[in-house]
Amino acid sequence: MSEFAGGEKYAQVPVGEPAKKAFAFIIHPIDTKRDVARKYPFLGKILPESVIHFLTRFWPPLTLSHITGARSVATGEEIEGWLIAVPYTSQRMLTLPSREVYKKIIAAGHLAKKLGAGILGLGAYTSVVGDGGATIARELDIAVTSGDSYTAAVSVYAVREAAQRMDVNLANATLAVVGATGAIGAVVSQMLAADAGRMLLVGRRMDRLLEVRTAVLAAGCAEVAVSTNVEDVSQAEVVMTVTSSGGNLLRTEHLRSGAVVCDVSRPRDISYQVAQSRDDVLVIDGGLVEVPGAVDFGFDYGLPPQMTFGCMAETMILTFEGRFEDYSIGKDLRFSQVQEIDALANRHGFKLAALRSFERKLDEAQIEAVKNRAHTGGRE
Ligand SMILES: NC(=O)c1ccc[n+]([C@@H]2O[C@H](COP(=O)([O-])OP(=O)(O)OC[C@H]3O[C@@H](n4cnc5c(N)ncnc54)[C@H](OP(=O)(O)O)[C@@H]3O)[C@@H](O)[C@H]2O)c1
Repeated sequence: MSEFAGGEKYAQVPVGEPAKKAFAFIIHPIDTKRDVARKYPFLGKILPESVIHFLTRFWPPLTLSHITGARSVATGEEIEGWLIAVPYTSQRMLTLPSREVYKKIIAAGHLAKKLGAGILGLGAYTSVVGDGGATIARELDIAVTSGDSYTAAVSVYAVREAAQRMDVNLANATLAVVGATGAIGAVVSQMLAADAGRMLLVGRRMDRLLEVRTAVLAAGCAEVAVSTNVEDVSQAEVVMTVTSSGGNLLRTEHLRSGAVVCDVSRPRDISYQVAQSRDDVLVIDGGLVEVPGAVDFGFDYGLPPQMTFGCMAETMILTFEGRFEDYSIGKDLRFSQVQEIDALANRHGFKLAALRSFERKLDEAQIEAVKNRAHTGGRE
């Protein structure tokens, strides 16, 4: 019997073809009061944040909504899914022992199985915690993915597009990846190696940074620096930040005028306040995807209609394919997997969403204004 099964034996059903093509995706509160209020407006309003943090330990996972209407452009087939909430905040997941967090995620996996899902996507910190989904996948009898491969693919596209629209020639620029030692960070660093004149890999562990540096040199970047000091980001014209820092890592003084910053991290590494105070810097949301068909998520988790995160999109793509197998698991993502999921995404009609900043679409005039302010030192 599994130590994570909460003391009750559960039926061991082999991973295989489920009755219908269906998935489940786990989300959790990121902005504690705001996100709890999305489901429980009254509780979100009256309970102080510290009480919510405390109580989340005792709340079980719950089904938030039924997802319908996503339709493949290749096959015309529709899939369905469910949003499941694991009521831990990011901070809670960073501070509790991994095993305690796993228990609740595994309970969410059992719920997903009961609902009829063939695959479970691990949203935000539910894949960051511990070993990147490996233990969870082992303990569950449905397939599991972190969704990190497709997140990496779309974030790379977004960085390239944003740099081009800001007239930054990547071949002559320094491109920093903050969190380069992580699952997404290491693979995007390799994917961007051939684009960038110089790369700066920022992380907390020098030994791992040096390993990633070797891979990035092999992938075609001629000059690769490493740093454990986030202040060094001020050297970079282009920054992709993809950490598990818990939010608000990059501050005003870390950003060079005219820089493009793609923030993939959730919670965000750049706060709205910092972005507002630097109107000579273009901050874009990383990892956003447009879903094919008339998808209805049945719950407002903070994104505009038709749009989702790369990690949920990956779970949906695998569902369209009927690939009910563990996919992006662990902290070493393979480049070939990123290419494969990207090709499958194109086949089914998933697309990189138009560039957005703090969920608002960026138009050409806004991008021009940022460029002008950077050129004129803040004077328009
Ligand atoms: N937008 C989307 O669609 C989407 C999809 C999936 C994930 N995400 C987000 O992407 C982020 C990364 O996910 P992941 O799966 O790649 O996680 P991960 O494998 O845990 O990697 C995170 C990396 O960030 C590093 N880090 C943490 N704090 C740092 C700091 N203060 N300075 C520098 N580096 C720091 C960690 O270093 P150590 O190794 O030293 O701990 C780790 O290497 C998370 O915020 C996640 O929520 C977003």
